[in-house]
Amino acid sequence: MKSTKLIYLEDSYQTNIEATVVNITKIGKKYSVILDQTIFYPQSGGQPADTGVIEGETGKFIVDHVKLDDGLIIHQGTLEGTVEPQQKVTATIDWNARYKNMQTHTAGHLIDEAVKNLSPEFQGIDGMHGINNQQYIEFNGFINESYKSEITDYLQKNKNLDQPIISETVTLAEIKKRGILLPFEPSKNKPVRVVSFGDNPPVPDAGTQLKNSNEVWPILLTDFEYQDGNTRIHYTLTPPAKKELPETKEATTKDTSLAEFQQQIDALANEIKQDEVLSNEAFQQKYSSKKGKFNQLAKSIKSVSPKDRGTAGKLLNQLKLTINSQANKQADTKKQEWFDVTLPGIKPQLGHAHLISQTIKEVESIFASLGFVRRRYQEIETDWYYAEGLNIPKDHPARDDQETFYFSDNVVLTAHTSNGQLREMEFLKEPPIKMINIGKTYRRQASNTHSPMFHQFEGLLVDKNINMSHLVGVSNYFAQHYFGPDREIRLRPHHFQFTEPSFEVDINCNVCKGTGSIHGHKCKVCKSGWLELGGAGMVHPTVLKNGGIDPNKYSGFAFGWGIERIIMMKHQVTDNLRQLYTDDLRFLQQG
Ligand code: DAH
Repeated sequence: MKSTKLIYLEDSYQTNIEATVVNITKIGKKYSVILDQTIFYPQSGGQPADTGVIEGETGKFIVDHVKLDDGLIIHQGTLEGTVEPQQKVTATIDWNARYKNMQTHTAGHLIDEAVKNLSPEFQGIDGMHGINNQQYIEFNGFINESYKSEITDYLQKNKNLDQPIISETVTLAEIKKRGILLPFEPSKNKPVRVVSFGDNPPVPDAGTQLKNSNEVWPILLTDFEYQDGNTRIHYTLTPPAKKELPETKEATTKDTSLAEFQQQIDALANEIKQDEVLSNEAFQQKYSSKKGKFNQLAKSIKSVSPKDRGTAGKLLNQLKLTINSQANKQADTKKQEWFDVTLPGIKPQLGHAHLISQTIKEVESIFASLGFVRRRYQEIETDWYYAEGLNIPKDHPARDDQETFYFSDNVVLTAHTSNGQLREMEFLKEPPIKMINIGKTYRRQASNTHSPMFHQFEGLLVDKNINMSHLVGVSNYFAQHYFGPDREIRLRPHHFQFTEPSFEVDINCNVCKGTGSIHGHKCKVCKSGWLELGGAGMVHPTVLKNGGIDPNKYSGFAFGWGIERIIMMKHQVTDNLRQLYTDDLRFLQQG
């Protein structure tokens, strides 16, 4: 048989079509009809099949399912009257159902675009858009639920932007010409169906799509589910206006008053008390099982009017606590009766220090091996130690570099650990000073790579005859002990108010071995062969003076680098600093 012509690919908004019946067969009570061309979409790619009718002069065929079988679209359903091969018929889809399917399907793709925008490493690998009432997009790897608001923001912005959605069929030649990237190898004789949203690059998709993103109802991300190392983001669409909602059953059934609901709760609580004598299994079965009395009562909360539902929910929660504590009591009694002394004990789970704490310790010990003393100076600081004393006068543009949180004109949350320099000079009064000040720092910033709170370590060495070669030596020592023996640093001229001369210290990238490219492609980790470690320089004479040290007798160097930054550099993570602050055990247990 010749393959069915797929008219739904040409226009997803077409609702009916004239066609000729190619074949009709009966299996059990159901019929299968094949047409020469169709607008019925067969269930696939997570999108449910269309439903509708196929009508001829002599009969009507009600389509309740559609599938694709080796190039043929099989319409399945029930027959009223007769439909014969060669007969001309009109095929009409249930447009409301189709439109809803397209909304759900397009919404899924918009979520895919939004997540890809977070980071290209997340790839959509599967999706369900309404089949068996499931609506989710599945991504490879772990996406923390804390991204929910960022994804939602992106969706709100882009979905409302009037993004045209273009579905098209592209040949291998076009794929090559336009540089379309596909997650599979396209073949010469099989063109590929792709869809693109606004300016985003096309992605493979064989379903039907809305023509514009603004037709999708607001998307609500409901749940992040983790399975076999992948993340399913479940979603639902929220109808924009009440009046468009179909009449719900809930509204027509009789409401239970809160008082009645309370009575039912009390009755059940009484019954529970009396059932103290029941065996543990029987108790669980009666009250806590799926079909148990608690769940039955919980379901009936729907009939309480919405304004009282919050209170009713609280009552239910209390009841649940009563049931649980009763069940525990019974389980305890039982345990006492049946204590098996031969059972092996349960090993307590042991934790370990957080990756940031581990790194702080490591940095501390690398510098300790050079004789630097660990300090931790205050995070709430006066303007003098934080800026003025470091040669950053009020109104100096350098103040704009750091998005500082101010408590008052004179008191700040430290945006760097450099305040430790003056504090240490004052504390020791006389060199030699060899300090490593590790502490929390705060800035008005929040993104994938910037957190409002992060950690810095500030080195300060002041003594007689200290020069830049000492700075280079210490930096190299640190690079080789923290990152690895084959690493080295370079100094790049820069400006800081509290050092002269000032530098940015870079460290060579170990992915591209400092060359900036891998097999002719730009290195994705560093882009240039070097990664920026942070600022450093020779302590400015004014700063020494402000710390009470004679710049004619002594000189020194200082540097200020980030703990999170060196962690990310070491693990070649360039874009998800926030994972360091989540409570996700799968991430934290790696350390
Ligand atoms: N305080 C600077 C910052 O947070 C970093 C810095 C640069 C510290 C140069 C230093 C230094 O000690 O010498 O951006």
